[in-house]
Amino acid sequence: MKALVIGGTGDIGKAVVKELQKKKAEVIVVGHSSGDIKLDITQSESIREMYKAAGSIDAVICAPGSRIPIKPVAQMTKQDYIIGMQAKLLGQIDVVLTGIEYLNDNGSFTLTSGVLNEEFIPGGSCIAMVNSALEGFVESASLELPRGLRMNIVSPKLLESSEEKYQSLLVGFETVPDSLVAINYLKSVYGIINAKIVKMR
Ligand SMILES: NC(=O)c1ccc[n+]([C@@H]2O[C@H](COP(=O)([O-])OP(=O)(O)OC[C@H]3O[C@@H](n4cnc5c(N)ncnc54)[C@H](OP(=O)(O)O)[C@@H]3O)[C@@H](O)[C@H]2O)c1
Repeated sequence: MKALVIGGTGDIGKAVVKELQKKKAEVIVVGHSSGDIKLDITQSESIREMYKAAGSIDAVICAPGSRIPIKPVAQMTKQDYIIGMQAKLLGQIDVVLTGIEYLNDNGSFTLTSGVLNEEFIPGGSCIAMVNSALEGFVESASLELPRGLRMNIVSPKLLESSEEKYQSLLVGFETVPDSLVAINYLKSVYGIINAKIVKMR
């Protein structure tokens, strides 16, 4: 198994890399400012360069960080929603669109959403929109993938290691061990599931 972990230097990515390495997978860590390969997921050319540099790949796991505006809906602008869609939504979709060309037969894409399209927070309309849009994309587009490719999306709960980062935003949200989040990604990478939203609840 040769896997590309986009966002592999982040909280979710690091946990996924660790679990993949336990399974003796060959892992390529992709980050924005560091990693085996550097990527700007908002740039299609950067995505293509990443695939060219990576060579033959069986699995793409995508957990990129994102800049999503969080503010009351009455203060949101159309531009805020456009900014919010760039990295997490359109970036992940672009990774799939380009990756169809590069992934080995029977390979898999595993994308990342989150619980905030079901457990709403103040100012969270953009993140809710992005998560639901991603899940809709995966459920539909996965059914049309060629060459035995599969695609699923993990909706992670709040990681223990991310609790401090999100403490002001996610009050009352329970945390889960990083390794538990990561093994949900492995369910998609090593399993036979397709078109699934992998929920941790
Ligand atoms: N952490 C949680 O508890 C949690 C729970 C549910 C959902 N999520 C979702 O999971 C995703 C990842 O969260 P995280 O907490 O693991 O993020 P994180 O710790 O901030 O890590 C983000 C990763 O994405 C990379 N990155 C940032 N901007 C990028 C860009 N423009 N192009 C390519 N890569 C980029 C970062 O690289 P550098 O380190 O080089 O900047 C890093 O590897 C987010 O969409 C988040 O909403 C997280």
